[in-house]
Amino acid sequence: MTTSSTTKTRPVNDSFALEVLEGLNGTPRTISPAFFYDAKGSVLFDEITRQPEYYQARTERGILDSIRSDLAAHLQGPIELVEFGAGSAEKTETLLEALDVATYRPVDVSASALEGAARRLGSRFPGIAIDTVVQDYHNPVELGPVPKGQSRVAFFPGSTVGNFHPSEAAKFLGRVARMLGKGGALVLGVDLVKDPDVLHAAYNDAAGVTAEFNLNALRHVNARTDAGFDVNTWKHYSFFNPMASRIEMHLVCTEAQDVRLAGQTLHFDRFDSIWTESSYKYTPQTMGELARAAGFTVETVWMDERKWFGVMLLRAIA
Ligand code: TRP
Repeated sequence: MTTSSTTKTRPVNDSFALEVLEGLNGTPRTISPAFFYDAKGSVLFDEITRQPEYYQARTERGILDSIRSDLAAHLQGPIELVEFGAGSAEKTETLLEALDVATYRPVDVSASALEGAARRLGSRFPGIAIDTVVQDYHNPVELGPVPKGQSRVAFFPGSTVGNFHPSEAAKFLGRVARMLGKGGALVLGVDLVKDPDVLHAAYNDAAGVTAEFNLNALRHVNARTDAGFDVNTWKHYSFFNPMASRIEMHLVCTEAQDVRLAGQTLHFDRFDSIWTESSYKYTPQTMGELARAAGFTVETVWMDERKWFGVMLLRAIA
């Protein structure tokens, strides 16, 4: 049971703290995954993608590498390539090499990640205009008209679409379809449903990097607010829920504690938990249904040999 008292000791106007507080007062208690990503969180996430158990990044790259000429046949230039959550834009190079890209517009909340990406890609691809867009793609992104003579292609890799609740994924895809306009294409990376043991291992790597990444949400909250979570007494717990077809990531409290945050005292009993992230797993069919409902047709689905990951080419209808 969580109880909270509202003995305010000072005015609460810090929106970061208030957002954290709102999640922690909810049922179930949550911390938004956005709070994973401080500087340390970004480094840890890059490390996750290099763990032997985390097949997703490697598999997606392998697929993209092997379909270069196929993609180029489907996506003729000149192209304005828009990438959501581009971060350091590591996966983008394959597309920039394979396609006739005139303009590259990476969208990310992190201005510093975008700057780094723009610098690196700018010197590798001097012929491509790079226009960074510092926006959070969870909200509607304002891109303006497509440059004259170019066709807009969106890229959303990493199975990040799986981190949305399916109803939010549908809304996001609907916004992308409208942003693309009739005939515009979306290249979407989708992690597929598979043996739960394989999924489980990917979110419970032996080196403990995912655990550190998850716990970093509490460290980040401690650093940015007056909260004093005793991070050493919390434990990473993640598992595949086959009925909901999702990985759930939680933080479980192993020692009861009171945490002061923005004027409130939150009580956590032993074995109380905070839900930090979900990662939904799809089949080409279930994602296809979602995409069609959002205004796309499924043009092609490419998979690796084991059918662990899919790269879907979707076409906006209207
Ligand atoms: N899109 C990635 C996924 O769900 C993000 C991710 C991988 C992740 N491991 C994580 C997010 C651990 C939070 C915590 O596969």
